[in-house]
Order: sequence, then structure tokens, then C-alpha cells
Amino acid sequence: MNATSLYVHYPWCVRKCPYCDFDSHPIGKRALPETDYIDALIRDLQGYPASQGFRTVFFGGGTPSLFSPGSFARLLAEVFVTRGAEITVEANPGATEHRELEGYIEAGINRLSLGAQSFDDSRLAQIGRIHSANDIASCFHTARTAGFCNINLDLMYALPGQSPEEALTDLRAATDLKPEHISWYQLTIEPRTEFANRPPALPDIDTVIELETEGRNLLAEHGYRRYEVSAYALAGKECQHNLNYWSFGDYVGIGAGAHGKLTHGASVVRTVQPRQPRRYLAEPCSPAEQPVIAAELPAEFMMNALRLVDGVPFEHFEASTGVPWEHLASQWHEAVQQGLVRDTHIAATALGYDHLNALIARFL
Ligand SMILES: C[S@@+](CC[C@H](N)C(=O)[O-])C[C@H]1O[C@@H](n2cnc3c(N)ncnc32)[C@H](O)[C@@H]1O
Ligand code: SF4
Repeated sequence: MNATSLYVHYPWCVRKCPYCDFDSHPIGKRALPETDYIDALIRDLQGYPASQGFRTVFFGGGTPSLFSPGSFARLLAEVFVTRGAEITVEANPGATEHRELEGYIEAGINRLSLGAQSFDDSRLAQIGRIHSANDIASCFHTARTAGFCNINLDLMYALPGQSPEEALTDLRAATDLKPEHISWYQLTIEPRTEFANRPPALPDIDTVIELETEGRNLLAEHGYRRYEVSAYALAGKECQHNLNYWSFGDYVGIGAGAHGKLTHGASVVRTVQPRQPRRYLAEPCSPAEQPVIAAELPAEFMMNALRLVDGVPFEHFEASTGVPWEHLASQWHEAVQQGLVRDTHIAATALGYDHLNALIARFL
């Protein structure tokens, strides 16, 4: 098996945020089926051939930090990882305790991704978060004390009513904490969310462009290099797990609603587990496999690779899609002539990156 990454999905949250379309269910007053879920994850993992060792493991959600360190330790004992593997857990500052953060490190986790979103208490309340700005800072310091030396903060911008200055204040508060990585996402209104049903008034396009320009400058001044559309890192601290997705690598996905991507010879399949936790827990089923139509592989590859500021070598294209690069060469050459992409490897120029969606659309 070529998969070098493992994604593990935890489909529960304390409460559902009104903007979120991730596969997550509010737990309400019910108890988490913690033991049963870890049993199911282990069964799920055992359905795959032995890997040569995962280079990255990502516990995402939902809110994985609702699970105790002992549960992570039990699962990780079954996962074969390479030396120095990046092992990340996502945590919500409103659903994490000190004791747990130390325990996560003891379980083998070495990277923490904190859902901060904003450092403004009224904005946090407005977007339905269960924590305050103080909770973020105290969770961050606790994580440092516990021994986490690789921390990401997730932030969102273009929040309802947010001015450019407010967004920059959020970024300053984030950089003051000196995390190794910042994911800075524009709030999008997703179908079938509470915000889609009662849309809040969002900042207009000129405000968004202004705050993005100033925000990116601020991040660069603090040493955070943009290496993907929404990802900024200190040197050498890029998220290896996400880099594997964007460079179209294979990964195993386990857990309710988890997706995976596996290459078998010349064909690529996507694996999908049932979204409903109850169904996932009830049936120790192997995931549904959806073959990716060969003709769609080049477009999928380009959609991912062009997001990376540094791009990928031309050779990766044929290795991942089975299609010789020559098939795209003349289209690529035209884009080179227009100053949109590089002639040395698959990557956008600064101009092309400013019009990324239009650039990607050329290769779909
Ligand atoms: C699975 S959540 C992260 C961890 C944890 N569940 C939490 O929220 O604290 C992944 C991240 O995606 C971002 N996100 C979720 N929905 C979004 C939306 N509609 N627009 C922009 N970013 C979004 C948030 O920054 C969020 O932290
Ligand atoms: S806590 Fe995270 S995953 Fe859960 S609903 Fe909110 S944004 Fe979505």
C-alpha cells in the first residue's frame, strides 16, 4: 500500500457551529461511545493491508479533543508510524483540559491544531463558539507547558460585520502567541448550515481584498510564509499531512464519514465510510469504494497541486495520474507565455496565484 498518511475522523462536537458543514454531530447530553468508537476505528484500520509506516497521522473532526488521552494511546498502539512521523490532533479550546494535553503527548501526539477562529469575544459568540479569547490563550499556554512544540491556530476572517482592522487585531493576537503554523480561512457560507438558512451580513468584496492584503503582509512580517491558499507556517513547520493531500498522495481514512484515497496499479479509488456514527458503530463494514474516472484524474491533480505556492515537479503529474505530461504541455505553455505559471515545474506565478480559480479552471 502506497498510503503514507492516515486520517482519523471524530464525528462529534459539544454543539454545532452555525457556519460548519464538517461531518460532526452535537453530543448534547449523551455520553460519547468512546470505547466502542475506538474499537470500531481499530477494526476499520485492520481492513487495510499493512502500510510501510505512516509518515503522518491526523486526528480531525468534529472535536477529537473530546476523547481522552487513553483512547488515543489505545488506537495509536495499533498504528504503524515511521520515525519522526507528524501526529496531529485537532482541539477546541472549549473542550480541552490540562491533564489531557499532557496525556496526548504521552500517547505519541506531537502536533496540536487549535480551533481559535477569532480573539474577539463578541465575534466568537456571534459565530456560535463555545469558548472565549481567554480560553484560547490559556489552552495555548497549557499546551506549550505540556510540551507541544508544534502548534497550529485556525482563524477565520471576513466574519459578519468584521472590519479590516478587527481582522488584523485577530492576526496580531495569534502571532503574539507565536504558534508554528496559522491556518487563515475566509468564512464561507456553506449549504445546509444554520448560516445558509439565515445568512449574516458579510463584509463586501473590497473590504475582504483590503484585509487579505494587509493580513498576508502582517503574517509575512512575523515570519509566516504562505505555502498554500490558507496555510502559513514558520520555516520548516508546514503541515506534512496536508502537503500530502495537496500533492495528491494516497491516504487511508478511517472513522464515521471518513474519506480515503488509494492507488491500485493504474486506478485510483476513493473510500467512504457511512456518515452516521450509529451506522458506523453498528457495522464493522469495509468502506464503499468509488473509483475515480481516469479522465478526471488530471483535473483533480491540478486542482490540488496549483494550491501549493511551491507547486510540484512535472514528473509528479504522470506518476499520479498515469497521463503523460505532454497532454497538458501546450495548455501549460500558453499559460507560461501569459505569465501565469512557471516553466520549471507545476506552480503558479504570483500573478497566476492572484487568479487561482480561473487558472485552475483552465485545466478542468
Ligand atoms: C474541523 S474544524 C477544526 C477543529 C475544531 N472542530 C474546532 O472548530 O475548534 C476545521 C476548521 O475549518 C474552519 N472552518 C470550518 N467551517 C468553515 C467555514 N464555513 N468557512 C471557513 N472556515 C471554516 C475553521 O477554522 C475550523 O477550525
Ligand atoms: S467545533 Fe469545529 S467541527 Fe465542530 S461544529 Fe464547530 S467548527 Fe465544526
